[in-house]
Amino acid sequence: MKKYEDLRSARFFAADDFRSFGHRSRAMQMGLSHEDWEGKPVIAIINTWSEAQPCHMHFKDRVEWVKRGILQAGGMPMELPAHSLSEQFLKPTSMLYRNMAAMEVEEILRAHPVDGAVLMGGCDKSTPALVMAGISWGFPFLFLPAGPMLRGNYAGRVLGSGSDAFKYWDEMRAGTITQEEWKGIEGGIARSYGHCMTMGTASTMTAIAEGFGLTLPGASSIPAADANHQRMAAACGRRIVDMVWEDLTPDRILTRAATVNAATVAMATGCSTNAVIHLVAMARRAGIDWGLDDLDRIGHTVPVIANIRPSGSQYLMEDFFYAGGLPALMKELGDTLDLSALTVNGRTLGENIADAVNYNDDVIRPLSNPVYHEGSLAVLKGNLAPDGAVIKPAACDPRFHRHTGPAIVADSYPDLKKIVDDPHYPITPDHVLVLRNAGPQGGPGMPEWGMLPMPKALLNRGHRDMLRLSDARMSGTSFGACILHTAPEAYIGGPLALIRNGDMIAVDVPVRTLNVLLSDEDMAARRAAWTPPAPQYERGYGWMFSRHVQQANLGCDFDFLTSEFGAPVPEPDI
Ligand code: FES
Ligand code: MG
Repeated sequence: MKKYEDLRSARFFAADDFRSFGHRSRAMQMGLSHEDWEGKPVIAIINTWSEAQPCHMHFKDRVEWVKRGILQAGGMPMELPAHSLSEQFLKPTSMLYRNMAAMEVEEILRAHPVDGAVLMGGCDKSTPALVMAGISWGFPFLFLPAGPMLRGNYAGRVLGSGSDAFKYWDEMRAGTITQEEWKGIEGGIARSYGHCMTMGTASTMTAIAEGFGLTLPGASSIPAADANHQRMAAACGRRIVDMVWEDLTPDRILTRAATVNAATVAMATGCSTNAVIHLVAMARRAGIDWGLDDLDRIGHTVPVIANIRPSGSQYLMEDFFYAGGLPALMKELGDTLDLSALTVNGRTLGENIADAVNYNDDVIRPLSNPVYHEGSLAVLKGNLAPDGAVIKPAACDPRFHRHTGPAIVADSYPDLKKIVDDPHYPITPDHVLVLRNAGPQGGPGMPEWGMLPMPKALLNRGHRDMLRLSDARMSGTSFGACILHTAPEAYIGGPLALIRNGDMIAVDVPVRTLNVLLSDEDMAARRAAWTPPAPQYERGYGWMFSRHVQQANLGCDFDFLTSEFGAPVPEPDI
């Protein structure tokens, strides 16, 4: 157990010196008194609320519940706002700013007089950004997930975030629904605060945080609009105070076993492809040597058992919560998980899920009746992706799991639009549609363009899937035969930069290969003729980003933020 004198905040507040006088008098300027801090841990609440962040709209209120818990347990709350990483409103892509938010939060925590932190996030990139920050900071923290929004609803139809937007957009373009219906869907698909309620990136990432042991049990499944969420927020406030006294630091939680657990949970939920990048980045921040091969190995053995869209047939996160949520899913996984892993409540994962109940075995399937027999993701390698590419076999037409077809290549999104919007473009469902220069540097920021729109020429003939290939990411709510994250990316001269229309591309998901049927000599000749594109940014954050971002297979973290880069950052001199 820690003593008050050992706390970081005591260095700021308790000393009998000029600096501490300044800290105390300025705390008193805010109306606080000695009783607020003396003998108490100061707890940061990183609040990612903003008016451009619909998924965190409730954080303005919810943070008060966290504070209530902190006060109940004898701590002093200190709310510190941070970048909200709004998936919908940040351009060119929220991924460009994940590392910026991670850096920002790490430095906010380091620079302030705080002993522990509750990190509030949930919209896609906010979860990995906050977790990466907390790991690198190194002091006790726990994660409070925003919770999913309620099921979408319009005209008696249940609507799922993202998935149904994509689906009905294709129907709109094919002329099978009216403008009126399209407008109704617009108003009904996101009808409460909270993050996307399919098993998209947000739900996947919060489940991963819980799988890591970084949330209180069950926290990631509670809908944002459910009063259980307020109670969970207060419980997080109470718990973090004890974590500070117990000195329960993240290095004791984020072990290799915890990473395997998080990846296993991700696979079993039918996770978003984005999870691959963020999992690698988080694990590597914790100093764990973790890569695509580790994920693929888990993907080979862990089946998808959460019957949640887009991998599952009909259910959404609200149904998952009513069925028992993540603790029930982890209980079904049983020994597949390392149940001895420590979690933020000070107990093991096994202890936390011992009493979990699965109330609906169609929503949370037993291992004997999975939604999909293998894990959600597969990693492909070959002469087109020496460092790997990712596909979600559960979300695509199985006839594309083994496919060879001629490439149609777009160098940019505007180029791609010309192809997909032309109703007479000469294309067959056997073609492989390729978009390049959409990777971490080329995008820039690796936009979620990877679910390339189905060409109108094919939609009009009734086709709804084809093989698509890019160095982009795709939304976690996307579906279709899309190969993503091709590394190295085309923009820096990866092999994707070298292919031309008509080159034959061969994909074999069962044996995990992705190749272009060209000889090494042909590839070398084309490489010699390739010229690098002009830089995207000549100043500012984008310039720093392009200099330091790593490729997708390394999690797109900045090289200088990884754990192996340089000595640990010293504590600030107060
Ligand atoms: Fe925030 Fe989907 S837009 S989670
Ligand atoms: Mg998304």
